[in-house]
Amino acid sequence: MVAYKLSAGTALLSLTVRSLAVPVVSEPTTTFTSTPAFTPPVRPHSNVTDHGPYSGPPPTTTGAKTTDVLAPSIPALPPGPNAFDYPSDGELHAPLPAPYTPSGGVGTNGSAPVYRVLSDFDYESIALALYQEWIELDLFHWGLATFSEEEFEEAGLKAEDRYLLQFMAEQEVGHATLLSNMLGPSAPVQCSYNYPVTNVREYIDFSQKLTRYGEAGVYGFLNHLNAHDVGQMLLQSITTEARQQMIFRQFEGLFPMPEWFQVGIPQSWAWTLLAPYISSCPANQTRLVWQNFPALHILNQPNPARNNGSNAWNETTGGYTNTLSTADIEDDEDCINSTEEGVNCSPGITNNRTNPLSYPGRQVFLQWDEPGFPVGPNNSYITSTSANPPVFAAWVSQLNVTYTPLEEIQNNTAWTVQPNMETFAGDPAVNGTIFLVLTDLDLYVTPYNLTQLNPHVYAVGMYQSG
Ligand SMILES: *[C@@H]1O[C@H](CO)[C@@H](O)[C@H](O)[C@H]1NC(C)=O
Ligand SMILES: *[C@@H]1O[C@H](CO)[C@@H](O)[C@H](O)[C@H]1NC(C)=O
Ligand SMILES: *[C@@H]1O[C@H](CO)[C@@H](O)[C@H](O)[C@H]1NC(C)=O
Ligand SMILES: *[C@@H]1O[C@H](CO)[C@@H](O)[C@H](O)[C@H]1NC(C)=O
Ligand SMILES: *[C@@H]1O[C@H](CO)[C@@H](O)[C@H](O)[C@H]1NC(C)=O
Ligand SMILES: *[C@@H]1O[C@H](CO)[C@@H](O)[C@H](O)[C@H]1NC(C)=O
Ligand SMILES: *[C@@H]1O[C@H](CO)[C@@H](O)[C@H](O)[C@H]1NC(C)=O
Ligand SMILES: *[C@@H]1O[C@H](CO)[C@@H](O)[C@H](O)[C@H]1NC(C)=O
Ligand SMILES: *[C@@H]1O[C@H](CO)[C@@H](O)[C@H](O)[C@H]1NC(C)=O
Ligand SMILES: *[C@@H]1O[C@H](CO)[C@@H](O)[C@H](O)[C@H]1NC(C)=O
Ligand SMILES: *[C@@H]1O[C@H](CO)[C@@H](O)[C@H](O)[C@H]1NC(C)=O
Ligand SMILES: *[C@@H]1O[C@H](CO)[C@@H](O)[C@H](O)[C@H]1NC(C)=O
Repeated sequence: MVAYKLSAGTALLSLTVRSLAVPVVSEPTTTFTSTPAFTPPVRPHSNVTDHGPYSGPPPTTTGAKTTDVLAPSIPALPPGPNAFDYPSDGELHAPLPAPYTPSGGVGTNGSAPVYRVLSDFDYESIALALYQEWIELDLFHWGLATFSEEEFEEAGLKAEDRYLLQFMAEQEVGHATLLSNMLGPSAPVQCSYNYPVTNVREYIDFSQKLTRYGEAGVYGFLNHLNAHDVGQMLLQSITTEARQQMIFRQFEGLFPMPEWFQVGIPQSWAWTLLAPYISSCPANQTRLVWQNFPALHILNQPNPARNNGSNAWNETTGGYTNTLSTADIEDDEDCINSTEEGVNCSPGITNNRTNPLSYPGRQVFLQWDEPGFPVGPNNSYITSTSANPPVFAAWVSQLNVTYTPLEEIQNNTAWTVQPNMETFAGDPAVNGTIFLVLTDLDLYVTPYNLTQLNPHVYAVGMYQSG
């Protein structure tokens, strides 16, 4: 092999110096035409017309897709054999494959990317993300179709805000098309849905939480995909979804991004949080392998619609997402029309909250469901857990999983205390829209092996910590 020194090649790259008259005029003409390039079609889709809980016949197939199972869990192992080999000293340790091109990397050897899933892991993960894109497409259209202009205006959302919501729905058409193309003809199709909301503010809160688990569900598996080319495309759609999540927070009058790092979660948590809002899917819909855990109900889930959001009891529209309910808020407790800075929560670029939604040391009351409950499309998935009865709450936020003990456990209820910890100095780890799960063990896990916790997870919910 011939090793080229970079300096030897520079002669070939020497520039020819030419002097050109720059063809600039101050008034550009508008008479040129530009033939449109080929535009790839989007995947056929329609506006879902029926919403609400599933009321059809019992499903013919139940449970997650499965096949032979080799072991109850993946054993924890020490780091791989080469994990510490690279010196990380700022020097180059191998010849450059080409100028300005350090050796190494995945997908860098010149072989053409094909953007196809390469494993069951890839297929099931991308299919899960596609279920998510389809529900978002419907959810964003549904809100616009369901609530009147007046109802949006009462929540402080004007015509331009509603157009942004419509635009978000259109983005989902692109995302669903992209993921469908990478899966092929068996890609999951649109379903029908039910949403735990009765007004615009509940709808915005639900959308904020739904996009959070959509985003986090992808971050959890993105770097585990076999097909890095598929991951590249997915990354470029999920960053759009992350922006949607932040915009819903702004629509809700929350601080747009109260964390330094966005959290990732296992696929089965995302599916647990997504499936209950899917009512039914067509008969030959491609099913998923992921687990549905029982719901965690946060009895004093902070309510962002209140002046004092932490002063809420049983103000959600149900478990899983634990979306806010406005039903019990008196007008003088409602922050939307407050004139006080730090209390007002009308839509805005950013809002400070004088009374924090939650705080370290807050007593949090919990209730959880038993497994064995039918959920998801056609009620055809069944909640399950392989954990013993829970004794810890795991706070999953930013880069951290922190356990707090459950106290006074009685008949599927208990309380625990919001932990006090920072991801890095100055960054309270528990802030924003986070994941709270109950476990039977305080297993040490980090962002890249969080899925190892699944055999110990009993129930899954979302906590509105900021
Ligand atoms: C769905 O409904 C929206 C209005 O809510 C409309 O703009 C759009 O064209 C409809 N899409 C389809 C595919 O019918
Ligand atoms: C997860 O990774 C951390 C290192 O980042 C390791 O210490 C821990 O044992 C792993 N947990 C499991 C359950 O594999
Ligand atoms: C280049 O890398 C791909 C995997 O990304 C591998 O399949 C292929 O064999 C490699 N090609 C060469 C010439 O090493
Ligand atoms: C807030 O003000 C708007 C506009 O005046 C009004 O429509 C809405 O009902 C008020 N909401 C509350 C909770 O007072
Ligand atoms: C389901 O059936 C429809 C209509 O026959 C077909 O177009 C679609 O490709 C099928 N989907 C799957 C996943 O097989
Ligand atoms: C789910 O329910 C819908 C509506 O009742 C029905 O058309 C469909 O065939 C059902 N799907 C399955 C997989 O049973
Ligand atoms: C807000 O609610 C919390 C919890 O109920 C309470 O401890 C706190 O005193 C309240 N703050 C104000 C300013 O009312
Ligand atoms: C919460 O409210 C619902 C409906 O109002 C009620 O059925 C339930 O018992 C309440 N739960 C608690 C723990 O107060
Ligand atoms: C917003 O909150 C931060 C942090 O508590 C504080 O430093 C800042 O002064 C507040 N700004 C306003 C305008 O309230
Ligand atoms: C969450 O972040 C907001 C905005 O930076 C800050 O005002 C608040 O104090 C934080 N909450 C906690 C519990 O640290
Ligand atoms: C727990 O359940 C048992 C049996 O159903 C019942 O007798 C008991 O009163 C319950 N305890 C509480 C605190 O609800
Ligand atoms: C939170 O995560 C950071 C980054 O991985 C780590 O350095 C820190 O020790 C973690 N904190 C706790 C309390 O686990």
